[in-house]
Amino acid sequence: MNKLLIAAAAVAAVAFAGGAQASQDLAKSKGCLGCHAVDAKKMGPALKEVSAKYKGKADAEATIAGVLKSGKSTGGKTHPVAKASDDEMKALAKWVLSL
Ligand code: HEC
Repeated sequence: MNKLLIAAAAVAAVAFAGGAQASQDLAKSKGCLGCHAVDAKKMGPALKEVSAKYKGKADAEATIAGVLKSGKSTGGKTHPVAKASDDEMKALAKWVLSL
């Protein structure tokens, strides 16, 4: 039982440490990086710019996850609805805000 808990904690620690890379891979697999780059404008804004825009806003994560879910940006434009679970959308929002 204890061994199992320790193993679970170790897995969680590794998952956390690998978070940024894992999220970038997620963004790639969900097609985000076809329109966005971290540092440069493509069809969509550079994700670092998006992150800067939301810095310090308490509801930033929910707002971004909302854009991905509803298919409507805060600028009132349409945005592709992410083919992702709620948890994945939250992870993507967290990753964008971490940039
Ligand atoms: C077909 C191209 C395209 C794809 C695919 C795409 N985006 Fe976007 N994204 C855009 C454009 C264009 C905008 C700018 C919208 C605007 O000006 O209001 C944008 C804006 C955003 C914003 C800012 C929204 C706001 O209202 O502030 C975030 C965050 C974002 N995208 C994240 C993502 C993520 C994460 C994915 C993958 C699930 C993704 N995008 C996939 C084109 C795309």
